[in-house]
Amino acid sequence: MEVVIVPDAEAGGELVATAMAQLLGRKPAALLGVATGSTPLPVYRALAAQVAAGRADVSRARIAQLDEYVGLPPEHPESYRSVLAREVLEPLGLGLEAFMGPDGTATDVQAACEAYDRALAAAGGVDLQLLGIGTDGHIGFNEPCSSLASRTRIKTLTEQTRIDNARFFDGDISQVPHHVITQGIGTILEARHLVLLATGEGKADAVAATVEGPVAAICPASALQLHPHATIVADEAAASKLKLADYFRHTYANKPEWQGI
Ligand code: PGA
Repeated sequence: MEVVIVPDAEAGGELVATAMAQLLGRKPAALLGVATGSTPLPVYRALAAQVAAGRADVSRARIAQLDEYVGLPPEHPESYRSVLAREVLEPLGLGLEAFMGPDGTATDVQAACEAYDRALAAAGGVDLQLLGIGTDGHIGFNEPCSSLASRTRIKTLTEQTRIDNARFFDGDISQVPHHVITQGIGTILEARHLVLLATGEGKADAVAATVEGPVAAICPASALQLHPHATIVADEAAASKLKLADYFRHTYANKPEWQGI
């Protein structure tokens, strides 16, 4: 995998947004897989700015969701569908017809998960999947020891993840659902390009385990080592525990510019 060390979160956002814009230049109806959480926000801001400046055309882009709470109605302000509508679709001028995601309110959750995997494949597969990373190395809601071959399915959140996410529910953990639907690790690995963005010192151990540790389910993001085109974009703080940081800096600095990430 390629590791790109950037000075800060804004630079990471700009780099990833530029990769998305270049992809859309080559393939205007590309399917972009997007993530929730705080980390991707600079990407969405930078992409919207590139659109406003006429440097990116997202008018035919399609957007796919990574994970969703089970039981929250789609119109709930913290359903990930609502969050992505606010943070991604609206700023990019896209409507819900450009969007696909799993049905978190389905009575048969397993059937809804399988339907979403089929829908992703029928849409031609995800071209670029943006990922955040949990401090425990999770991607999507694939908590540690998730099967590295998993498909989209229901997962039970760890207590720590519910505590972390209570900030979006007025600090009230009782409002945070226990269950989620997440693309599986096997599903995520089918995207053509994986871009994992990590910012801040709190992610340094998870980034080191992902890049320089063994491929192991205890760190779900380490599965990216199995992917032929995976890019880790880390700011200085998130990259601070990488033993090979100087090597990564050297190779990126000397990479032919036309290659992009
Ligand atoms: P964060 O979440 O971007 O809010 O840190 C990342 C994640 O849990 O995947």
